[in-house]
Amino acid sequence: MQFQLTEEQLMIQKAARDFAQQQCLPGVIERDEKQQFPKEQILQLADLGFMGMMVDPAYGGAGMDTISYVLAMEEISKVDASVSVCMSVNNSLVCWGLETFGNEDQKKKYLTPLAQGKKDGELYIGAFLLSEPEAGSDATSQRTSAEDKGDYYLLNGTKNWITNGSSASVYLVIAQTDLSKGSSGINAFIVEKNWPGVSVGAKENKMGIRGSDTHSISFTDVKVPKENRIGEDGFGFKFAMKTLAGGRIGIASQALGIASGAYELSVAYSKQRKAFGKEIMQHQAIQFKLADMATKVEAARLMCLKAAWEKDNKKDYTLSSSMAKVFASEAAMWISTEAVQIHGGYGYVKEYHVERLMRDAKITQIYEGTSEVQRIVIGRSVLK
Ligand code: CAA
Repeated sequence: MQFQLTEEQLMIQKAARDFAQQQCLPGVIERDEKQQFPKEQILQLADLGFMGMMVDPAYGGAGMDTISYVLAMEEISKVDASVSVCMSVNNSLVCWGLETFGNEDQKKKYLTPLAQGKKDGELYIGAFLLSEPEAGSDATSQRTSAEDKGDYYLLNGTKNWITNGSSASVYLVIAQTDLSKGSSGINAFIVEKNWPGVSVGAKENKMGIRGSDTHSISFTDVKVPKENRIGEDGFGFKFAMKTLAGGRIGIASQALGIASGAYELSVAYSKQRKAFGKEIMQHQAIQFKLADMATKVEAARLMCLKAAWEKDNKKDYTLSSSMAKVFASEAAMWISTEAVQIHGGYGYVKEYHVERLMRDAKITQIYEGTSEVQRIVIGRSVLK
């Protein structure tokens, strides 16, 4: 067993750290307050090859491994989780889904610019449209319909809480073709945002990751050509589940970054802040908190890396990605809350960053499968 990163992985980690510190940190508080989408940062990530990190260079990707992806996600999430969620959705849900299950034409047309994050010099990213007003955790209960009309499908319905909702050019849409068949009657489609009948709803006013653009998306008689269906008829639910297994490594790494960011800020603050005649880190009450934080960060990191290693080595990573996500997101929530506590009154105001990390942590327990859904996946595996 090796616990050592390669030269290349270390280089990618450093590039991500530099990018986060130099390009994300300035303005992160303002973007959060104004709910401003970090377009400039995403374009820079595209130039670094981080919007299609694991995609084969033949399709415009950077050809890196999943371990490098975890390292980069951690560094960027330490500073700006609104940037990293956009990166995670494009990499693990959109690009991976298309590269693994798309056909050659779909890859050439859509994957190549998506992996580059740009088309004709303009931002070009994707979104993953599974959630609905009444189908969040219960993803089988899709109500968006895709009626088979021969050489095209007629798409009608509404999707909710869509990350990259207004900034994406391409949507991967999960929809029900045959309600009587349950999960086997579901298909996945590539839909372009500018097609007639597609409309983007108002931006959600969120607690955290306020820079990321989250919208509902509606479809009214949208004609989707048959060649834009991904995989065989009825493959859509499995497509979503398989894709989400990798997505959960991305969100687990985001949670890890929020956790390690909050931990590092807490260490620095407790070295500098004095109370009762000494730095607060000299007080055991604070030391114990820092010790628990450090332990949870380390455990979350190892779990994310293990899931990534399994994915890179073509093993089944469904269980390890759910375990990494539930553990890392709960660690992020706990650590960021304790970070606010360590910072006291300063922790409750914006300049010290930890209150934002605490708000950002919460979503990692909800999206790409709530903690309860992860426990369903883990529990079923235990029962097997
Ligand atoms: N890989 C392959 N196949 C899978 C699978 C997997 N990981 N998980 C399930 N399946 C298959 C099953 O084998 C079954 O196939 P058969 O009918 O052939 O046997 C079929 O899919 C149905 O599976 P289940 O019976 O297990 O389905 P279920 O209704 O019990 O639901 C669930 C299972 C795990 C709860 C699932 O609904 C789920 O994951 N829900 C959460 C959805 C989610 O994560 N949403 C996040 C939205 S995306 C997002 O947040 C992106 C963003 O913008 C940040």
